[in-house]
Amino acid sequence: MKIILAGTTGLVGQEVLTQCLAHPSITSILVLSRVPPSRASADEEASRRVTLEYTIQATVAFNEAFTASLVGTGREEALSAAGSKFRFVYFSGGMAERDQTKSLWVMAGYRRLRGQAEHPATFESYIMRPGMVLSRQGTLADRVRSLAPSVRVDVLARAAVDLAVRGHSEKISENARITE
Ligand SMILES: NC(=O)c1ccc[n+]([C@@H]2O[C@H](COP(=O)([O-])OP(=O)(O)OC[C@H]3O[C@@H](n4cnc5c(N)ncnc54)[C@H](OP(=O)(O)O)[C@@H]3O)[C@@H](O)[C@H]2O)c1
Repeated sequence: MKIILAGTTGLVGQEVLTQCLAHPSITSILVLSRVPPSRASADEEASRRVTLEYTIQATVAFNEAFTASLVGTGREEALSAAGSKFRFVYFSGGMAERDQTKSLWVMAGYRRLRGQAEHPATFESYIMRPGMVLSRQGTLADRVRSLAPSVRVDVLARAAVDLAVRGHSEKISENARITE
């Protein structure tokens, strides 16, 4: 199985990459990483661009490229018979809200933006909604964070890789489901 990964320099992405490298069913990994002279600023416009536009453009481009790679090769039916398809696993966040008209008391901007990014797609798409992500080491800060809904980074990564490799009937994984 081939995997395309974005965000691999981050807390979650590093762990996902490590687990993909060790996974027996994964034969090829393509990492998307930017050359780092300028970091995106944390203003609202940059956050919107990275969360929403990059995600949607990437999913459309991957799916079109995947579909186009099959046309005329005769592999379309063979892959379909084998259950092979393009799966997209997106790290959203707990409390993401798809209903853009709903009034929200806390973190309204973040939650609406995440909800928009979880757009329904024509291919198989999975949404992860982790709470606070905890390190493997279990630092003092992690102990404080674990008072809220939380998940250890390796558990989260394992759940994501499993979704990408095997798929699942449920398309949205809340924090409790991920830890389960
Ligand atoms: N950590 C948590 O507690 C938590 C909780 C709930 C949900 N999540 C979600 O899970 C996902 C991963 O979280 P994380 O903690 O691993 O984040 P992180 O440590 O901040 O890593 C973010 C990753 O995204 C890349 N990135 C950021 N802006 C980019 C841009 N403009 N172009 C290309 N790449 C860009 C970074 O690459 P560079 O190295 O190039 O900057 C980095 O690899 C995020 O969507 C986050 O919101 C995290």
